Formats: sequence, structure tokens, C-alpha cells
Amino acid sequence: MSDPLKACVIGWPVEHSRSPLIHRYWLEKYGISGSYDKIAVETNDLPEAVARLERDGYAGFNVTVPHKENVLALADEADALAKAVGAANTLWFADGRLCATNTDVYGFITHLSSAAPGWKNDCGSVAVLGAGGAARAVLKGLIDQGIGEIRLMNRSRERATALSQRLGAAIQVCGWDDRNASIAGCGLLVNTTSLGMTGAPPLDIDLTELPDTATVADIVYAPLETDLLARASARGLAVVDGLGMLLHQAAPGFEQWFGRRPDVDDGLRAHIIADLAVS
Ligand code: ATR
Repeated sequence: MSDPLKACVIGWPVEHSRSPLIHRYWLEKYGISGSYDKIAVETNDLPEAVARLERDGYAGFNVTVPHKENVLALADEADALAKAVGAANTLWFADGRLCATNTDVYGFITHLSSAAPGWKNDCGSVAVLGAGGAARAVLKGLIDQGIGEIRLMNRSRERATALSQRLGAAIQVCGWDDRNASIAGCGLLVNTTSLGMTGAPPLDIDLTELPDTATVADIVYAPLETDLLARASARGLAVVDGLGMLLHQAAPGFEQWFGRRPDVDDGLRAHIIADLAVS
């Protein structure tokens, strides 16, 4: 009998990661003999930790903060998506080679399209708040969906400018202080900042200028309904929470390591929501 398949998530800190809950749910659901661990890895230890994972027989691993960019330099083969985003979150060992991709792009777009199927109808321009790690995947996904005008706003303007230079002409950088006016007419607003997360200040933005047909998406999932989403709902706008991106981004990795494409079902969502409620 072959050894059980092993995967894990590495990060610093890694304690908050819900990836083990997601993958263990699927392992149990599909009756697969495998394991998924959570391993704390400091930045300086990243190369050695990755070598250790290979020696220890891991099929692959997820990467969370702060390693998503640095891990790319360690990969023998990074796909076009990971290279374009400049970050990887899903890796696997194949014949002694470390392969990398970025499934955050897939996770964001798949959840957006499933939670708000009409988001692209007459969408026009899109407004994106934030220019950190999460913004990269969101922007790449929107560009690949053919969105021609993305207004990018970030507290530190230079980070937004750097992303627009990296990801292309569709991105127009607008001032953070002008955000209430800059979202005018946008069919989709996406918050990729950490504002609104439990323990962080709320996102201070006035939604008045969004059209009635707009969709509002938040990548924050704790709380599940952020102040932004509550205000968008109260205005009758379509809303997309951040949890679905987390769940969908996990599916390609599970398939790569454990050999079966898993479903993001209601049971999984309820499982993670129950965990969010107690932590
Ligand atoms: P992640 O990888 O989750 O995107 P990050 O790279 O630290 O995390 O990015 C956090 C984002 O939230 C950034 O866009 C950050 O803005 P800065 O680039 O100016 O730091 C944004 N953010 C965090 N706290 C903020 C605050 N108090 N006001 C405005 N933006 C904030």
C-alpha cells in the first residue's frame, strides 16, 4: 500500500489559516487517506523549510503571508499566472522539481461569478480598493475577464502605481482621498484592503455614487458580513463576501495533491462559518 498523501500550509503566522479545515473536510468527504498540516515558517527559513517538505515526502503545499512572493523565486517552474501576479500560493513537487501557480485569481473570479452571476452585465468600470498582496490576484482576474477600466485606489499611492505598471494599461490609479467620487458609475467595487476585518477599522467609503445595478465584493471574510457589505445590501446592491474566494482557491491545490477535484459545497461553507463564529 502506498503512503498516505501529505500536504500543508506554511506561513508566519500560520495559526489563523483555515486551509487545514478546508482540506481535511474534503479528505473526509471523499474518503481519501491523506493529511493536511499547518507549519509555521519564518521568512529566513523559507528555502530550508521547502527543502524539508520535499525530503519529508509532502506532495505539495499552500503558502500564506508573508511568503507568497518569495516562494516564487524558489520554484523551478512557475506558470504564467503566478509570474504575472508575481506571487504563488499553491506548489507541488514533480520529479524533483518545485512547481508553482496562483489559485487566488481563480478563487476570486469563480466565487464572484457564482455569487453574482450578472456582475459583468453592463459592468463598465470597476473600482478596486487596496494594492497589497490580495489586490494583485483580484486585478489579474479582472483584467483576464476583459475589464477595460479599473480604478485603483490605495492609501499608499506608490503601491498602486507599481501594480498598474506591473499589470497593465487597464488600471488607472486614483487618489485614496478621492475614493467616494472615483467609484462613480462603477459596476463593481472590490475591497482588497484589510479594513473591515475584525480588529481593524471599518472601511470608510460612501457608496452613494455607485449605480443601483452595482455589485460590491469584499475579500474580508471575518466578519462574513462586513460593514461595507451590510451598507451595500441595505442599498439593495448585489454583494459578494470574502469566504467564497478562500474556499474556491483551495480546490485546484487539493486536486493537484490528492487527485480529485473537490466541490465547494454548502457543507464546507457551513463548516468554516462555524469555525469563524468560535474564533
Ligand atoms: P494583503 O496581502 O492581505 O493584501 P497587505 O499586502 O498588507 O495585505 O495589504 C493590505 C492592504 O490594506 C493595503 O492596500 C493597505 O494599504 P497600504 O498599501 O497603504 O498599506 C491597506 N490598508 C491597511 N490598513 C489601512 C488603513 N488603515 N487605511 C487604508 N488602507 C489600509
